Amino acid sequence: MEKDQTLTIQDNRTKVTYTVPLDHGAIRAMDLRQMKTGPDDFGVMSYDPAFLNTASCRSAITFIDGDRGILRYRGYPVEVLAEKCSFLEVGYLLLWGELPTPSQMREWVDLVTHHTMIHENIKKFMDGFHHDAHPMGMLISTVAALSTFYSEARSVLDPEVRKLQILRLIGKMPTLAAHAYRHSLGLPYVYPDNELSYTENFMNMLWKKTEPKYVANTTLARALDVLFILHADHEQNCSANVMRSVGSSQADPFVTTAAAAAALSGPLHGGANEEVLRMLDEIGSKDNVPAYIKKIKEGHGRLMGFGHRVYKNYDPRARIIKKAAEEVFEVTGRNPKLDIALEVERIALSDDYFIKHKLYPNVDFYSGIIYQAMGFTPDMFTVMFAIPRTVGWLAQWQEMLQDPEQKIARPRQCYTGYGAREFVPLEQRVTQAKAA
Ligand code: MLT
Repeated sequence: MEKDQTLTIQDNRTKVTYTVPLDHGAIRAMDLRQMKTGPDDFGVMSYDPAFLNTASCRSAITFIDGDRGILRYRGYPVEVLAEKCSFLEVGYLLLWGELPTPSQMREWVDLVTHHTMIHENIKKFMDGFHHDAHPMGMLISTVAALSTFYSEARSVLDPEVRKLQILRLIGKMPTLAAHAYRHSLGLPYVYPDNELSYTENFMNMLWKKTEPKYVANTTLARALDVLFILHADHEQNCSANVMRSVGSSQADPFVTTAAAAAALSGPLHGGANEEVLRMLDEIGSKDNVPAYIKKIKEGHGRLMGFGHRVYKNYDPRARIIKKAAEEVFEVTGRNPKLDIALEVERIALSDDYFIKHKLYPNVDFYSGIIYQAMGFTPDMFTVMFAIPRTVGWLAQWQEMLQDPEQKIARPRQCYTGYGAREFVPLEQRVTQAKAA
């Protein structure tokens, strides 16, 4: 690494030269404020809509190299974790920084399992939703409602209080998600079965009928575990940014998680896998793919599930999900949409247009196909994303609270509106005000 980690910047307005330090390849935006044209000058700011090139924090949780298609949680490649670990094991790693020992794992699983139940009143909230309410809306609302049951959660600077709320959220998210799913089907809610693993219990609360004890298909349970691992965290994505921003006001972790889930519900974020299924339905058959691709290249519509703000190579998660799909289909039967998706991928990966624009399949391209094969309706797909991502959100939230440099998030702006104006009383306003 070069020894002189500084930038020298000349302000051509004043011919003054400044030297600013670099840290992890970044300058501090506040180091720009010294660059002024005079004592009344506020100083230079950085302008970066949608934060395309702005680091909002220092983080040791997740590393992504978008050009090389690398994703690591606490230094471990996600491919290795997906093959060797359970989701809760990876959750422990993301939150506490190290893979658990056997005794730590036993205690961790017991603690999470102890928090799968929800207050009976929450079910009354669920019952109040329309029969066709979107499950993500139900999840967001009921996660926020949890804050009214645990008032001590506001003590976010107390590590023990934080840990208890983290356990409650990880333990209860599958229960809330399953209740939302059962509500949408008009089925009775199923209580957690704490003898089952995290994903088996989730399947139990989703799919148990009248049998005395739910027995999960182990292939599907393992596939869900892998999907949860792959969706657990992704550094400073939109919803993680919301978790950090809302959490920076020291709001409690329940309303903060609800805010992050609200961000995830957008079609450009967690809702993308639902849009992929709609796109595959619109294409209809493998034979229609060339015509659809042609339409996209002519600028009509987007190839959902392709491309990514960070990855300019194949999203490593998509590769693993594609492999998991084959294992799931051995149990559920092959989802015919897979053939359409594989044809879209085959054509797109060989077409100069997509190669030039670095549009590769991302995590959303195959996840929806698996969820649909498992029996989930598309409106449950983002809920399936929110469950594991709760671990990532909480890891980012906790790291933010422990960072001595962090304070309440409050960006600046470049003001482009009017200067001071004289007020005109209503009766004297003769010109048509601009339409709102
Ligand atoms: C995610 O996993 O959050 C998505 O890939 C979006 C992102 O990282 O920006």
